[in-house]
Amino acid sequence: MAEYLVELYVAQGDPTVAQHHVAVAERAGADLTREGRAVRYLQSFFVPEDETCFLLYEADSADLVTEAVGRAGLRLEHVSAATTSVAGAQESPDGTTKGTSMTSTTTSTTTGPDLSELRDKQQKVWSSGDYNKIAALTVPVSEHLVDHVGVSPTDRVLDVATGTGHVALAAARRSAESVGIDYVPGLLEIARRRAEAEDLVVELTEADAEHLPHEDASFDVVLSAIGVMFAADHDAAARELVRVTRPGGRIGLASWTPEGFVGGILRTVGAHVSPPPGAQPATRWGTEEVVAGLLGDGVTDVRSVTSTVTQRFTDGAGFADLFLTYYGPTFAAASRLDDQGRAALRADLIALAESHDRGEGDGLVCDWEYRIVTATRR
Ligand SMILES: C[S@@+](CC[C@H](N)C(=O)[O-])C[C@H]1O[C@@H](n2cnc3c(N)ncnc32)[C@H](O)[C@@H]1O
Repeated sequence: MAEYLVELYVAQGDPTVAQHHVAVAERAGADLTREGRAVRYLQSFFVPEDETCFLLYEADSADLVTEAVGRAGLRLEHVSAATTSVAGAQESPDGTTKGTSMTSTTTSTTTGPDLSELRDKQQKVWSSGDYNKIAALTVPVSEHLVDHVGVSPTDRVLDVATGTGHVALAAARRSAESVGIDYVPGLLEIARRRAEAEDLVVELTEADAEHLPHEDASFDVVLSAIGVMFAADHDAAARELVRVTRPGGRIGLASWTPEGFVGGILRTVGAHVSPPPGAQPATRWGTEEVVAGLLGDGVTDVRSVTSTVTQRFTDGAGFADLFLTYYGPTFAAASRLDDQGRAALRADLIALAESHDRGEGDGLVCDWEYRIVTATRR
């Protein structure tokens, strides 16, 4: 295997951002190595004055390295074959000794991040903005998930991280016994009003996806549409999905892919505002192998399908302003920036949307990619 060097941009040379980049790159590299792919993360160097972080990989090809970086949800600036001097301890790619090896820093970040603190922060993020104003954008994803997994009137169905209730309502419309949980009470209240308006029976409970208040094996079908992917502790949330599904029951998860449009939104936000320590990229859940690893030996028959949902906005600015005002992750990030920082974030969001425009002429039309991973409980 050859060694490859990846260059990542670190806004304002912020060490917290660099630490996050390295932590998620290490995890994604380890995931791929575990999957038997010929790519291994080796070490990193941070050069704050150049606003750059370098990651060193051993791999069969540059494509595999690009995949590892994409899996980590990071935006790759450049990948090149590494020189031997870089592989040696503390030297930077230009052969000088500037730059700091980040291996020891990241080890402490990855071994013991306080995920309960992160969970509380993220709960505040999803309570901010007004998710209901944009929730309708993903109704087709939920409908697709429910149809793809198949829900029948005899099923007891759990919708994890239901938000305003899309999946839970869709299951109830198919006459299933439907239960939804979320940790934002305001969104559950909207789900309740929607259920009432349609005269549907849905049990809606405030709960944490990482600690579900349900008995073991108490559901025939456990679903989540772009919900559980946002849990702070991915392993704990995945364990809970498996625990509450009965043997032979089905799990279905729809998640944004790292390479799709929403992966781009989250990366753009991360380039402007440091993600909290310990945060893993939500879009990991948009990869079948990662979800298979998270669900573990308790499931079998893991499969996935990839699809897109089409969105329409007046223009790039219309998209950016909608998301900066209502979507928790962008709203919360913008509120931590000064006017100049907010303008820069807005400009990058506009550029992202425009780069995905189908170019049909009538407003901005773009396709947002998601992946549905399904599995059967053993
Ligand atoms: C993008 S929204 C999706 C909501 C809904 N599933 C839909 O399809 O519209 C993400 C949701 O995940 C919820 N969420 C994230 N982490 C959670 C956790 N640990 N426990 C419960 N809900 C969580 C948020 O409150 C938010 O409602």
